[in-house]
Amino acid sequence: MSGINYSEKIPNNVNLSEDRTLQRALEHWQPNYLQWWNDMGPDGSQDFDVYLRTAVSVDPQGWAQFGHVKMPDYRWGIFLNPAEQDRKIHFGDHMGEAAWQDVPGEHRANLRRIIVTQGDTEPASVEQQRHLGLTAPSQYDLRNLFQVNVEEGRHLWAMVYLLHKYFGKDGREEAEGLLERNSGNADNPRILQAFNEKTPDWLSFFMFTYFTDRDGKFQLCALAESAFDPLARTTKFMLTEEAHHMFVGESGVSRTIQRTVDVMNQLKTDDVGKLRAAGVIDLPTIQRYINFHFSVTIDLFGADQSSNAATFYSSGLKGRYEEGKRTDDHVLKGNSYKILSVEDGKLIEKEVPMLNALNEVLRDDYITDSKGGIERWNRVIEKAGIQFKLTAPHKAFHRNIGSLSGAKITPDGRVVSEAEWNAKVGEWLPSNEDRAYVGSLMGRCVEPGKFANWIAPPVMGINRQPVDFDYVRFN
Ligand SMILES: [Fe+2]
Ligand SMILES: [Fe+2]
Repeated sequence: MSGINYSEKIPNNVNLSEDRTLQRALEHWQPNYLQWWNDMGPDGSQDFDVYLRTAVSVDPQGWAQFGHVKMPDYRWGIFLNPAEQDRKIHFGDHMGEAAWQDVPGEHRANLRRIIVTQGDTEPASVEQQRHLGLTAPSQYDLRNLFQVNVEEGRHLWAMVYLLHKYFGKDGREEAEGLLERNSGNADNPRILQAFNEKTPDWLSFFMFTYFTDRDGKFQLCALAESAFDPLARTTKFMLTEEAHHMFVGESGVSRTIQRTVDVMNQLKTDDVGKLRAAGVIDLPTIQRYINFHFSVTIDLFGADQSSNAATFYSSGLKGRYEEGKRTDDHVLKGNSYKILSVEDGKLIEKEVPMLNALNEVLRDDYITDSKGGIERWNRVIEKAGIQFKLTAPHKAFHRNIGSLSGAKITPDGRVVSEAEWNAKVGEWLPSNEDRAYVGSLMGRCVEPGKFANWIAPPVMGINRQPVDFDYVRFN
């Protein structure tokens, strides 16, 4: 079961050849996917041989194989974690019943919507990142970008398989739609706003993979609990790939900080002008990037009170993060949860039914997890003997969804007037000057072992290869 059949056009571990109709439908979608990759995937890179990992098994030990491949030849396929025998639904109104091997009619519309929304983010991020290869700070980083991109492409395959196999004609139409919407397209944008934003520079890319891929992790973890077993199994395997994406983000920001504090110590200065003249990214600018990406990403969890969230949970479609490790009744009727809102110019806590607040529960779990990396970044600064602390902004800062939407709240959680907000927003969010400065540092640096001036080399290479390994052959 854990072995993957690579002899077929579409690599898979789901016995695709036994279902001729499905196989034909997916083989029909495949050239459209490749066309999309060609049009919207990494710019100018189709001919490069890239040192990529490819999934060859779903066994946690040794699931990946590394080697140089041209990205259009990457073996995108369908890989599900092995089925758990007699798996039971472990939360919601159907708790204790057998997990579903097919889609129950009454949950079909909601499940389709959940799968399409998740699926839409995968190609969206590839589109957002498609120009970054042109300004890679090193060959090592270029390879990591491409690895993230091909795996997001595979995550699209994971969702398209479910749509084709379980949702008939509607599913096939949705699968086409996933290739038709485009990030930032005025007429046909991606579903979620954060996936229509630009990823204009590598600091944004690292922030995106740290913060926004982590949103992906939490959504996938919640879906890995689903009563719909094929969804649970496919998202579990996606999570295996996802860990590397967050590593790319965390280590990328960490190396950026490392380089900055090294130059701060060399020049014995924390003067922003002098540091910028020296070509590194000052810590206050890094803080503003954190504020932006953190706030935009926590919006992705949705409104703090949502009857959809309650329905998805009670009907067993989507669980909580680590549902199985929690010790409550897993039904949550009568439980309450605290959410924030602004009343009479003050931020207050309000108790609401927990079932309706499950988006907030997932957001809070996400926030705890994402603060861990910020603490690790602070250790780099501390170790260099520099007095500066990066922080996550307040949950209510710069929000655009739910009851906090549009409220003017500072990164430390003070409600302020519109006038004060406008006067100070340049201290809290990246300004046009910040973005232009960071943009001005971006230039292609791709000789093996060389790194752009604004970022430190990594401690180790990929798959125990040296840092100056030829990760990308440009041909
Ligand atoms: Fe993904
Ligand atoms: Fe990802």
